[in-house]
Amino acid sequence: RRAQDARPGRPAISVVAHRGASDDAPEHTLAAYRKAIEDGADALECDVRLTADGHLVCVHDRRVNRTSNGRGAVSALELADLATLDFGSWKEEGFANEAPDRQHEDPERTSVLTLERLLELVADADRRVELAIETKHPTRWAGQVEERLVELLGRFGYTKPAMRADWTSPVRVMSFSARSLHRVHAAAPDIPGVYLMQFLSLRHRDGRLPPGIGIAGPGMRILRSHPEYVAKAHRAGHQVHVWTVNEPADVELCQELGVDAVITNRPKQVRSQLGLG
Ligand code: G3P
Ligand code: CA
Repeated sequence: RRAQDARPGRPAISVVAHRGASDDAPEHTLAAYRKAIEDGADALECDVRLTADGHLVCVHDRRVNRTSNGRGAVSALELADLATLDFGSWKEEGFANEAPDRQHEDPERTSVLTLERLLELVADADRRVELAIETKHPTRWAGQVEERLVELLGRFGYTKPAMRADWTSPVRVMSFSARSLHRVHAAAPDIPGVYLMQFLSLRHRDGRLPPGIGIAGPGMRILRSHPEYVAKAHRAGHQVHVWTVNEPADVELCQELGVDAVITNRPKQVRSQLGLG
């Protein structure tokens, strides 16, 4: 991972697959995550929401309308309801001209993905694959998302205190909500938190983050308008993980500025541009 790096002495940029290899396969499906692993992604990004019956599922939007043939809010549907929907066919070429209930023959491209299944995929991978889990709209559930998340991560052994000094958690939790990150940190202090930012507020312009949060997660727009932010965050002791970095010019800027991770829909192309694969 160090071979290509233009910044001697620094580790290579980590390439994180945003919703899986979501340019090539339907976002948040097992197929998209398998493809991301095949493509050499260092980490997988996913959004999680709670179903009406308390399961964490990997869905970005509040409602299922855009990415499935169903309708309604994830929070109002049970896992069994989601399991009847097709989360993949919207991505197929010519889909708009076909019946909305067309089923792709590969269930890994169409089935709703639970966080538990994604954790199994990562645990079964034949190399270290990290997971960057984003909690969506945590205020709606007043702590239940984080409670369920920590419980699930505990079951997979990710919340135990580090036994070795050089141990680094393969899982991190991301959120636009500092409150959500603080809830996770209180229950599982070994899981790193990434504070996502759409805009750079005056409060964070000097590179500092809310207490207890280790990693800055600025949007690409912030880097274009405030490229100096990366050095400031580094000086404040924080890694910088940038989203969503799809265009070659943006990858180049991230490389020049020395960010630590890029979150992209195109892990294969980005790795190739960085000379990693
Ligand atoms: O990785 C962070 C990024 O995913 C945040 O934006 O809307 O894609 O979840 P969004
Ligand atoms: Ca996300």
